[in-house]
Amino acid sequence: METPRSEQFDDIYFAVENGLEESRYVFLEQNHLPAAFVGKSRFTICETGFGTGLNFLCAWSLFEEHAVSDQQLTYVSFEKYPLSASDISKYLNHWSSEFGGRLERLIDVYPMRIGGWHKIRVSPQVTLLLIFDDVNRALPQLDEPVDCWFLDGHAPAKNPDMWSESLFHEMGRLSLDGASVATFTAAGFVRRGLEAAGFEVSKVKGYGHKRDMIVGVFKGSTLSRHLVSFPRKVAVIGGGIAGTSLSYILGQRGVDVDLFDPQGLGKGASGNERGLFNPRFTALKGNESDFYSPAFQHSRRIFEDISKDHDIGYEACGSLHLVIDEAKRKRMNGFLEHWGWHDQHAYFMDQDKVREMSGIRINHDALFLPDAGLVSPLKIVKVLGRTANLIEEKVLSVIADGSGWIVNGRSYDAVVFSCAVHVIGFEELNWLPVSNVRGQVSLIEVPELFQNLSRNLCYGGYCSKPYQEGNSGDSLERMVVGSTFQPWLQDASVREDDHADVLEKLSHVVESFNPNDAKIIGARVGFRCASKDRVPIIGRVPQANNLYVSVAHGSHGLTCAVMGAEILAAQMTGEVQAVPRNVLSYVDPKRFLPA
Ligand SMILES: Cc1cc2nc3c(=O)[nH]c(=O)nc-3n(C[C@H](O)[C@H](O)[C@H](O)COP(=O)(O)OP(=O)(O)OC[C@H]3O[C@@H](n4cnc5c(N)ncnc54)[C@H](O)[C@@H]3O)c2cc1C
Ligand SMILES: C[S@@+](CC[C@H](N)C(=O)[O-])C[C@H]1O[C@@H](n2cnc3c(N)ncnc32)[C@H](O)[C@@H]1O
Repeated sequence: METPRSEQFDDIYFAVENGLEESRYVFLEQNHLPAAFVGKSRFTICETGFGTGLNFLCAWSLFEEHAVSDQQLTYVSFEKYPLSASDISKYLNHWSSEFGGRLERLIDVYPMRIGGWHKIRVSPQVTLLLIFDDVNRALPQLDEPVDCWFLDGHAPAKNPDMWSESLFHEMGRLSLDGASVATFTAAGFVRRGLEAAGFEVSKVKGYGHKRDMIVGVFKGSTLSRHLVSFPRKVAVIGGGIAGTSLSYILGQRGVDVDLFDPQGLGKGASGNERGLFNPRFTALKGNESDFYSPAFQHSRRIFEDISKDHDIGYEACGSLHLVIDEAKRKRMNGFLEHWGWHDQHAYFMDQDKVREMSGIRINHDALFLPDAGLVSPLKIVKVLGRTANLIEEKVLSVIADGSGWIVNGRSYDAVVFSCAVHVIGFEELNWLPVSNVRGQVSLIEVPELFQNLSRNLCYGGYCSKPYQEGNSGDSLERMVVGSTFQPWLQDASVREDDHADVLEKLSHVVESFNPNDAKIIGARVGFRCASKDRVPIIGRVPQANNLYVSVAHGSHGLTCAVMGAEILAAQMTGEVQAVPRNVLSYVDPKRFLPA
């Protein structure tokens, strides 16, 4: 058996002979678990240094062995240098029987190694918020009251940066009264840091041959868990990807949802036969990376899960983002440098490799995202929307009724506007600066040249890999080529000029492709809803109770809108948020509130 060792810190994660026992002694026993779970409907553990997830597996197992059915465990953990799922499996496999199937479940749901927050419901009672970032950067963005701290993270002498004053200060900010802490170290400055933050600290016997370790109890906190009155019945206005993904997530939490759309599901922008799912790149780490990385991981996970039982045209075929100019190269380089994506999930390739991979003569280098792909928005909304009660009516007004609302004569605890640009028809949100951006996609028969294309191509426009659509009898292989971007047009009819535009754009990156040879077999026009700052609008409607909005998902609705649903569901139910605080402000409708 190999002892896992950190390259960055030249230190072991745990000892193979007794790591499991040490984890149970130091973190569970010295934090008085499971006794501390008793009587708490929600219990939150926060850990520095996820590593192999050994502590998490121990805590998760212990919780489920002792919790009653209405208790929930939230486990927040930070990791700056994530291990791969296969390494975790390799390191923990010899203890797998101790965890009753949980190790296998962890491996199955373990996120891509891309920087950012990853919220995962590992079981009906346990949620893991795994944050791939430096704990000192990410902890100030957390708003989850904590009952118990596992202070791990390599010996202070080997990793002095982590054990910072800011860490102890943040622990003080987030600790509930009586919150406990345990750590394997007995270093004096850790003790002093915890005391300064408000913990009463003592030394106890360390594990095995170790003399001492530190434990503490937080005293005098005025923090209390924010108890949200869980909505029982919710009206969602708009049956596109934003509205149906929210219906789906709320349905999983037992909320009764009425979904209003006069046209049924997927008749707006979300009705395309195929769309690409990708993050939106920027050169720097910041709000965009903090939003789009988790959004990409999260939506991909949902598509993958659903595709196990339904045909939603999902293919994680990868996308080649062609470097069409120097500005793009700069942005992609910045992305690779700053976003914290492991090179397993994003890497550059030169044009020779691009040709080899695409099977086409393309004269551009590319950034390759192997986990990006293709999915049918129309099919997804139909599956996601099934969990709701569909009401094919146009909503004309939303009328306040005590703490709830009346929508088309029916009463609700909460209402969500996911009706794209039509949101400005409602008095509560008529000040939002949103507008339509027309887009047309063309469906073409697969030209000879593209027969072997196995990835999507993105170049400002996009072209999917060939896919099969239709029933086996009349199914036809085709490609989608898109899309126009016409904020100035409101014409919903298909335009011949637009076919010519998208095909010509494709011929600029695939020079041997002659647009005149393409056989058009279909097209679709839609209207993306865009905000003035090109950032989605997700959150509580200002100055109103129990009203929410999720619109302006622009050209990346397949990633943004699904994440928007997760954000709103957490706001409605009081669960731990899936994104950091800075992202909540970034997407908050309040930013547009008239002064
Ligand atoms: C041509 C084109 C290509 C695109 N390609 C991609 C792509 O490849 N990848 C990607 O990620 N994104 C893509 N997008 C963007 C993506 O499609 C959108 O961001 C996404 O569909 C928006 O979803 P939505 O639910 O917010 O809006 P919509 O799907 O437009 O849904 C809004 C719904 O609200 C309903 N509604 C309006 N008013 C009312 C009312 N008063 N009462 C009840 N219901 C109401 C409407 O009927 C509509 O069904 C593309 C968009 C277009 C136009
Ligand atoms: C001793 S290991 C933790 C073992 C782990 N708890 C387990 O159950 O396997 C310490 C972990 O902390 C991580 N780490 C160190 N400094 C960090 C920081 N500043 N922010 C986040 N994680 C950090 C390391 O990469 C390493 O995975």
